[in-house]
Parts: sequence; structure tokens; C-alpha cells
Amino acid sequence: MKLSITVGAIAVATASAFSTAFMPSGLRGNSALQMALAPGQTPIVIGLAADSGCGKSTFMRRVTSTFGGDVCGPLGGGFANGGWETNTLVSDIATVICLDDYHLNDRNGRKVSGLTALNTAEQKFDLMYEHVKALKEGKTVMKPIYNHVNGTLDAPEEIEPTPVIIIEGLHPFHDERVRDLIDFSLYLDISPDVKLNWKIQRDMEERGHSLESIMASIEARKPDFDAFIEPQKKYADYVIEVLPTDLDKEDKKTLKVRAIQKKGVPDFSPAYLFDEGSEIEWTPSADKLSSPPPGIKLAYRQEKYFGNDVAVLEMDGNFDNIQELVYVESNIGNSNSRFYGEITQAMLSLADSPGSNNGTGLMQTLAAFAIRELYNKKTAAAKLAANKETAVAA
Ligand SMILES: *[C@@H]1O[C@H](CO)[C@@H](O)[C@H](O)[C@H]1NC(C)=O
Ligand SMILES: *[C@@H]1O[C@H](CO)[C@@H](O)[C@H](O)[C@H]1NC(C)=O
Repeated sequence: MKLSITVGAIAVATASAFSTAFMPSGLRGNSALQMALAPGQTPIVIGLAADSGCGKSTFMRRVTSTFGGDVCGPLGGGFANGGWETNTLVSDIATVICLDDYHLNDRNGRKVSGLTALNTAEQKFDLMYEHVKALKEGKTVMKPIYNHVNGTLDAPEEIEPTPVIIIEGLHPFHDERVRDLIDFSLYLDISPDVKLNWKIQRDMEERGHSLESIMASIEARKPDFDAFIEPQKKYADYVIEVLPTDLDKEDKKTLKVRAIQKKGVPDFSPAYLFDEGSEIEWTPSADKLSSPPPGIKLAYRQEKYFGNDVAVLEMDGNFDNIQELVYVESNIGNSNSRFYGEITQAMLSLADSPGSNNGTGLMQTLAAFAIRELYNKKTAAAKLAANKETAVAA
């Protein structure tokens, strides 16, 4: 079978619209933002749990472009552009709130308390709950800002509701009240080996730190991470697990990425390979999907994860050419794409973003498509309910 692809031109157009659409200042009050939420429409809330570092802007971009939006940048333009230091990313479709903004104490305060930022005692869960609830009801909130540069708690910023609200950070699923407001929950699980390899690459090779100091800083974080972050895994509907490759034990760079998809989640059907419910290991033809050493391998498995039934989609290795991904796409079911090749096109449109040539980009893209589907279903259900009400009233 010959797979032809014609998405290249579209993708290039999208990518350039993307960079020129990046608005350095004055995003607030932008007309695109105001038209985003229709009267009576309420946002869906996506939770994304990830270790340190908000600004998973790649995922935000994948979500935004999946919805057809393209304006994406820091609220108020960000500090560098004469705005304020912010962790909030906005687009015409989505707002990403960094949960570090709900830290109880500033950096000096934590020196006094002696607790780390990972500790649940260092977060304001009552305020987090009130804000997520208000946004979900379509209300504007004044959210505090945790300034990562200076470690200070800065003057609050105004957050307007958008169709999709993403709350991202260390503890999105810890508080039961917040958890109950979340429509779809994701957990980005970077394995300790991969974290170590990344840290070695960055802190040792680029910043000249010693291996001992890197190991010590990882060890120091581990107890609080295990106590406060890790337990949230069991609540996630979709876990993106990032592991070292299995294809070559010496290879410290290539990744194996697994999307662990919970079964039975309302409005979410896990993506599968070839045949839903089966067990599959697949090495694609090298003529159709070329890859650098150590090669590429996909898998689809039925497993248990914290007692829940899950469907796992795996990609081990990198591919050379995103366009060839359409070969994989043609064998993915429940991908939630609207037309053949849409996933490949989405990957192409963000070709310069991290993970575009491996499983992290593919699984993030599949998650973004699932979120769009979830949003469409919820919006359709809400419209139906509203129509019924009008009919009853008439
Ligand atoms: C950090 O604090 C200094 C001193 O108060 C201030 O000049 C600077 O603007 C702050 N940086 C950010 C990014 O807010
Ligand atoms: C794979 O994904 C990671 C994480 O997104 C990214 O940093 C990396 O550049 C990608 N490519 C390779 C060759 O590992």
C-alpha cells in the first residue's frame, strides 16, 4: 500500500501563523479571548500532574492547535515584554494555570517552615478549589503568582475562563474537591533513570556540576516526591510514562514512551493499535517508517494499573521523518482525528517542539485529540440540556 501525504504545505502554513501569532503583550482583552466562551458555556478542566517545572508549553500548544487556535503566550505578555512575571499561559482556547501559584509560603517562608515545595502542607488547597470551581462556573478570579525567579509571592493576576482550563503542577489530584472538578486527568511520569540522564546531560555536561552533587540533589528530593506526588498517579485517566529504551541497554538518550489509558472513563475511549483489546508488538517496516538506531517498536497491551483496567500504547525509539508517521496513524483506532492524517499534520505543525520525533510528541498529541473529543461531547451534552430546558419553559 502506498501512503501519500499532502499535509506538508498546510503544516508549514500553520507553523508560521503560529510564530507570527505569538503576541508579546496585551493578550488580556484580546478579542479572540473574549469570544472564546459562548454565553452559558462552561469550561472543561484538565489536570496535568508533572514533577517540577510548569511551562509545559509544548503540551499547551498541542492542545491549542488541536482546537484550531493559534495564539499562545504568557498572560499579559510576560515579564520580558514589559508585563509581569507570570506562570500563566493563555490562548484563545485554553488557559494553563501553574499550581505553584498556590504555594503557601514564598522561598524564605519555606526556609522557616523547613518544608519543601513538594509538601502538601505548603499549598493553599482551599483557594485552589475555590478558583477552579469559580472558573468552571464561568467566573473570573484573582489568582496569586509565585515568582520563580525571585521566589516571592507577587500581586495577583486576573484569570478569565476559557473553554479549556488546564491546571498543571505538583498536586492537581491531591485534594478531593479539586479532583472532582477535573474532567480529564493526566500524569506525566518521567522514570528516575530518564530524569537522571536528563540531569546529567544538562547539569553535568552543560553546567559542569559533579555527578555526586546531581545524585545528592535527586536523593534529597526523593522522599517528599514519593510521599506527596507519586500517590496521585492512581487518579490519572491518562499517564504518559517516559522510560529509557528497551532496544539497546547502552543507549541513554532514546526513550520508550507509554500512554497508560484508563478504561471506563466517561467520554474517553482509549486509542488502540490494529484491534481493540488485543496484545500487539509491532516493528513497522523500515521502508515505511525509517528510524535512527536503535530502531523503533510499537506495542499495545492490556494491563492493570493501580487496580484499574488500562490499555497501554507504547512507542520505543525515534523516527526520522514525521510525515512517515501517517503509516502508524493509519493503524491507530480511537484516535479522535476528524480526517485521515490529522495526527501527523498536528505533529508536523509543531515539528520544532521537543518530542516531535518520538513517543512523547505522539502521546501528547493523542491526549490533545482525546481532550478535544471530550470537550465536544460535553459541549454537545450541555447544549442538549439547555435546549430541553428552553423547550420545557416554552
Ligand atoms: C526580582 O526582584 C528584583 C528586586 O526586587 C526586581 O527588580 C526584579 O524585577 C524581580 N524579578 C522578577 C522577574 O520579578
Ligand atoms: C524525544 O523527546 C524528548 C522529550 O520531549 C525530547 O527532549 C527529545 O529531544 C526527543 N528526541 C530525542 C532524539 O530523544
